[in-house]
Amino acid sequence: MPVISTPYAFNESQLYVDLKSIFGRSLYLKCEGFNFAGSIKLKAAIEMVESAERDGLLKPDSVLVESSSGNLGVALSTIAASKGYRFLCVTDSRCNLSTRLLMEALGSEVHIIADLDANGGFLGARIEYVRALCASDDRYVWLSQYTNPGNWRAHYRKTAPEIAHEFPGLEVLFIGAGTTGTLMGCARYFRDWHHPVRIVAVDSVGSVSFGGEPGRRMIPGLGMSMRPPLLDESYVDEVVKVEEADTIRACHRLARHGFLFGGSTGTVVSGAMQWLAQNEPRDLTAVAIAPDLGERYLDTIYQINWLQDLYGDDILDFDEVSAGSRRVEPRRRTSGRRPKP
Ligand SMILES: Cc1ncc(COP(=O)(O)O)c(C=O)c1O
Repeated sequence: MPVISTPYAFNESQLYVDLKSIFGRSLYLKCEGFNFAGSIKLKAAIEMVESAERDGLLKPDSVLVESSSGNLGVALSTIAASKGYRFLCVTDSRCNLSTRLLMEALGSEVHIIADLDANGGFLGARIEYVRALCASDDRYVWLSQYTNPGNWRAHYRKTAPEIAHEFPGLEVLFIGAGTTGTLMGCARYFRDWHHPVRIVAVDSVGSVSFGGEPGRRMIPGLGMSMRPPLLDESYVDEVVKVEEADTIRACHRLARHGFLFGGSTGTVVSGAMQWLAQNEPRDLTAVAIAPDLGERYLDTIYQINWLQDLYGDDILDFDEVSAGSRRVEPRRRTSGRRPKP
């Protein structure tokens, strides 16, 4: 029986969903959403905070500040509340309402950036705002998830060994790329492992992390509007890019089987299924990482009016694509459609 006295002392690390009966191909989905921060970001947050404490960067009157699309913000809010630090999260208008309310409920301050930067994203503007804050008062401490090695080290120390322990015959690992902390930590670990594992990064169309044209991205978590400073592509075997419409379909397909996951899980699962269909006729030992759960996305990915406004009325009209899965009927709009912005 786990008994804890800090919220970051518990993190379910051994739970996998076998997706074969839903998607017709064997893929084990590692669930990272079962902790008090609700996402994989708890691991990176605790590693970065504790290393800043060890380095003497964090003092009792320090104010943590971070740019986050949401989940790191919630994780830092959880840790800051537990350890007695103030925390200011700089996020943007794509951050889910429930994520913002969650941070505020945990006692954090939230600043929302609403103007797109030159790359069509919010990241540049968020970082500029954080820099200005830090220049204004030296009590602000910016952990900088985009450059902090603690971000990838958390996954080298925890996520990757957890997978290696359960899947000694692992052949391919699918990892969504945001800051690329998860990707780089796992890729570095498996590079040193006893047998080769193919590392497949999954990114969203419109992200420039691995090159390509910037484009509209409405689902937070994956993708960047600049090249991720932590990324070293020499550790990545392949990159799969996923359209947001496919992300949404994967999320809804999982939900119709009782598994309510977050948007980036839909991206990773969709990318992994595409890759497995194209690359391997036989079932490989394949694992994908699900960074969070779906409740934070009830007013976006799981809200029909939001979906139809952004992706068109047919977004959920999709056919059964594999044996063993049941057809998902489109949900029809009933009433109260929001006006287009
Ligand atoms: C829901 C979700 N998925 C994926 C990621 C990407 O993880 P990483 O930043 O380690 O690349 C994040 C990061 O915030 C996230 O919140």
